[in-house]
Amino acid sequence: MTKFAVLKNVQPQPELVRENIKKDPGFGLYFTDHMAHVRYTLDDGWHAHEVKPYGPLVLDPAAAVFHYAQEIFEGMKVYRHADGSVWTFRPERNAARINKSAERLALPQISEEDFIESIKALVALDQQWVPTPESETDESSMYLRPFMIATERFLGVRSSHEVDYYVIASPAGPYFSGGIKPVSIWLSQNFNRAGSGGTGFAKCGGNYAGSLAAQNEAAAQGCQQVLFTDAAENKYIDELGGMNLMLVTKDGRLLTPELGDSILDGVTRRSLLDLAPQLGLEPEERKVTVDEWREGAANGDIVEAFACGTAAVVTPIGRVVGSDFTIDHGDEPGEKTMEFRKTLLDIQYGRAEDTNNWMVRL
Ligand code: COI
Repeated sequence: MTKFAVLKNVQPQPELVRENIKKDPGFGLYFTDHMAHVRYTLDDGWHAHEVKPYGPLVLDPAAAVFHYAQEIFEGMKVYRHADGSVWTFRPERNAARINKSAERLALPQISEEDFIESIKALVALDQQWVPTPESETDESSMYLRPFMIATERFLGVRSSHEVDYYVIASPAGPYFSGGIKPVSIWLSQNFNRAGSGGTGFAKCGGNYAGSLAAQNEAAAQGCQQVLFTDAAENKYIDELGGMNLMLVTKDGRLLTPELGDSILDGVTRRSLLDLAPQLGLEPEERKVTVDEWREGAANGDIVEAFACGTAAVVTPIGRVVGSDFTIDHGDEPGEKTMEFRKTLLDIQYGRAEDTNNWMVRL
């Protein structure tokens, strides 16, 4: 028995509208008919669990989130399998991560049970919004965005005594438009994303706000994403504006920057490292310099590069553009990149056996 009270939307979007949206949803543009909500106060803890019609929030202009950015979020997806059932991927990892983020942003812990129940309760009402993939390369899904915001009306700088947690859902196609074409990456020159002791490992809005000026520079250079290096030496690869990064070496390694306090512990990142041996690659997490990538790509030691994340799935990287150099991985997606992509999507869409028990039926 769920503790989420259900208040059904009596004016859901018409079926025709919904079905049209699902045919070509883009990313992050359309939202379903309901949202999950749980309220927190210092005195009562988490309470008032509910699913209610999707709609604007009424917040006091003095709410802490507007002033001090006390906010965190998650990104997850719901996949429709061939028999019509709907599933999500490793939700316990998102539950653990939201709590790591909450700890860093001085927000309250939410139980794994409440987190997963909030998703189940929302998807139970809005599962008609989950697209059916049309082919094995189709990555249509319903993206879930759980988030927590500080809502106390108070301008003093301390952690908020009132917090609201929501989950919204959005039918989604690929994050990058233009098919599975390699993307171009701009190496940030003027900005860093995260420093030692900062919030880089947390999934908080502030990290993304801080990436936007660099992302705009990337766009001005004709690139789709920005790559950040470490703040101390500007030497080591950290992550992209909104996703992790992986390299494939000629001698059979899947290389990615090691986690630290500046890198997000991506669920897709972790899963690809777990799958690497099955694809004949040895996973390797360590510090990687831009120079190593540059030289490795030039002499043939680093043969492929890709971005990975819930939204990005596995997206090949074709070029990295620096102020005075370019790393070129070509115009075609790499072979291992495509193998990773297929292996992951096959598990997520139920086309391959889920030997790791990663999938959870909703
Ligand atoms: C995700 O991959 O789920 C994210 O949160 C990244 C965001 C830039 C869309």
